[in-house]
Amino acid sequence: MTLLLLFLVYAIALSIALAGAGHWGRTTAARLASKPHSERILIVGATGGTGRQLVAEALERGYTVTALARNPSRIQVTHPRLTVVRGDVLDGASVDAVMQGQDSVLCALGHNRYLGPTRILSRGTGHILRAMEAQGVSRFVCETSLGLGDSAFRLGLFYTLFIIPVILPFYFWDKTRQERMIAASRVPFVIVRPGALTNGAKRGVVRHGSGIGNALWAVRISRADVAAFMLDQLESDAYVGSSPGVCW
Ligand SMILES: NC(=O)c1ccc[n+]([C@@H]2O[C@H](COP(=O)([O-])OP(=O)(O)OC[C@H]3O[C@@H](n4cnc5c(N)ncnc54)[C@H](OP(=O)(O)O)[C@@H]3O)[C@@H](O)[C@H]2O)c1
Repeated sequence: MTLLLLFLVYAIALSIALAGAGHWGRTTAARLASKPHSERILIVGATGGTGRQLVAEALERGYTVTALARNPSRIQVTHPRLTVVRGDVLDGASVDAVMQGQDSVLCALGHNRYLGPTRILSRGTGHILRAMEAQGVSRFVCETSLGLGDSAFRLGLFYTLFIIPVILPFYFWDKTRQERMIAASRVPFVIVRPGALTNGAKRGVVRHGSGIGNALWAVRISRADVAAFMLDQLESDAYVGSSPGVCW
């Protein structure tokens, strides 16, 4: 009983810390004004679940796409407007090189090194932001998660009391660093916070904004719908400087 109580205190304290450490509200500086339209976009995490959907949807919408991949053979799509570049987001030089000529960056970076302290997301994102600032790239759309900043406690009880504190504490803590770095940068950004991801089909209708998710059950969304919402952020200024949640 005491152990259970101690665990509950830890789980709730972790979510309170994730609330404090993630991004809140809207970053309103004038520096967030950006070019409204992009043609050439860089996709980071292009071989992953969301990343593959981003590549497909971006090509369908007519963008010229560069996909950064550690292992280019994992991208099976070929298209005249798609260039696949081998690179590692943890290697700043490869990020600098692939950034040249881009208008915007979409990031769906993730990994499965859950079980210890990690800085993969924040280090990789730091390289992306530095290259974007140096080369004047004008929009960054980055996938993080509900459960951070002003969306803490909004992934439902199972995530708040089990998945995040037991399986993902280090991973989520690194996501707070990632969000803070983005918000502190000079790059016009949209942080996209989805609910639990599925590999289902795109429905085309999603709920989005600051009040998304709830404390009791996990809200869901397909990676295909997240990708479409992320690409929408290149075509609208509505969420620039903020971190909308998104779910079905
Ligand atoms: N699962 C959920 O329910 C859920 C809910 C909310 C938010 N999210 C977040 O959404 C994001 C995307 O999740 P996902 O499941 O769609 O993605 P994923 O399948 O985990 O893919 C992650 C991508 O990141 C790439 N990557 C990792 N390390 C890299 C490096 N050093 N350099 C370049 N690329 C690297 C991977 O490349 P490789 O193919 O080379 O490994 C892969 O393309 C994650 O941040 C995740 O935490 C997930």
